[in-house]
Amino acid sequence: MPGTCVIGLQWGDEAKGKIVDLLTPKFDYVVRFLGGANAGHTVVDGENVFKLHHIPSGILSPHVLNIITGGVVVNPPTILEEIDGLLARDVDLSNFILSDRSHVVFPWHIEEDRLLDKSTTSGEDIGTTLRGIGPCYRDKVGRSFALRLGDLLRSDLCEKVKLIVDAKLRALAGLNGKGDIKLDAAEIAKTYAGYGERLRPYVRNTTAMLLDAVDDDKKLLFEGAQGALLDIDHGTFPYVTSSNSSGVGVASGSGVPGQFIQTVVGVIKSYSTRVGGGPFPTEQENEYGEHIRQEGNEFGTTTGRPRRCGWFDAVAVRYTARLSGVSLLAVTMMDVLSKLDFIQVCTAYEINGERTTTFPSHVDDLRCVKPIYEELPGWKADVTGIREIADLPENARKYLDRISELVGRPVGVVSVGPDRAQTMFSAEGKAALM
Ligand code: IMP
Repeated sequence: MPGTCVIGLQWGDEAKGKIVDLLTPKFDYVVRFLGGANAGHTVVDGENVFKLHHIPSGILSPHVLNIITGGVVVNPPTILEEIDGLLARDVDLSNFILSDRSHVVFPWHIEEDRLLDKSTTSGEDIGTTLRGIGPCYRDKVGRSFALRLGDLLRSDLCEKVKLIVDAKLRALAGLNGKGDIKLDAAEIAKTYAGYGERLRPYVRNTTAMLLDAVDDDKKLLFEGAQGALLDIDHGTFPYVTSSNSSGVGVASGSGVPGQFIQTVVGVIKSYSTRVGGGPFPTEQENEYGEHIRQEGNEFGTTTGRPRRCGWFDAVAVRYTARLSGVSLLAVTMMDVLSKLDFIQVCTAYEINGERTTTFPSHVDDLRCVKPIYEELPGWKADVTGIREIADLPENARKYLDRISELVGRPVGVVSVGPDRAQTMFSAEGKAALM
């Protein structure tokens, strides 16, 4: 069963949605396996632009089953808004399926996110998306006070919500020190039971479905969210999201064993961005960073926050490409660098006087990284109309070759703009993906 997976190798926003959208026609299933409403995917269909947070990017292809697995945390009012927006534009949702194992984000999670985002032992705010993602995953792992979508459909929901609300009111009072937060258990239970009823037609046992799909030799496309450097276990902890956003999360989030994934596409921007707090060794808080932000329109899809911008970090991406089992790179946003005279690429780190190409595990070591750069000449030409990699300016091709060499993986796909047509495949990319 040739499963393919699309993973962001940086701190998210690498334009994974575009790559998923391009690959979708070849697949039977598009599977979202982690994260929640912290993700923001833009899907374009002619004149229509759809902003999706939960629903997989294959939703506009009627032949594809779009699955949200139990690894995802779902915010019912937000997903219902997405569903209503799609239905209002006559999108058929009979190809959309939601796991009964998905954990539910409740109002207390969003309140906890707001109160806890401001405090880490590492001294800087995490700068979360404030969508309740971390608190919901924390309750999932803690087990005592967590509810899944399957629970919304059962008759004992009100008793369960009451138990949780009693505990949450005590915890929230401790967190804000005032005890003025109001949560009405009966009202919340009624509202969420209503959400459950509206979602019921989509809710299934997706783990069983996907294991059947594997047995039936169906083609599965796994759509990553966030980026591998935000992985809870392997990213820049504690400045990470609360799930496994690198390739290691595919199996745990979906229930499909990793041995069924044949191709992993690692999506990278031709530079780096990060939203929120945490170390970012190649960040450029100067005219170059500002140039990239403006040229790349680097403002968050979910929160609208300006993204922090910097040069491509080959140490970080070599690490996440290996971690995620990447077979091919998809390099996006090549057009954004077109006006620069030169481009820097970080090839190694210096930490406390020692040179290394190993990505450090501790945030304090990452904070004192001195990036070692190699300078490459820019191409100073508009590339947005180019349709073959061989037709790119020589310096653009050299830049791609150097990135590939430093990361240790071939470039399979190159994107020079948001449109589907602005995408080129190398020979390796064509062989593996077309
Ligand atoms: P959370 O996932 O909302 O808890 O946020 C944790 C960190 O991950 C913050 O730095 C967020 O800015 C970042 N983050 C979460 N989702 C995304 C995303 O889709 N793109 C980029 N950054 C993200």
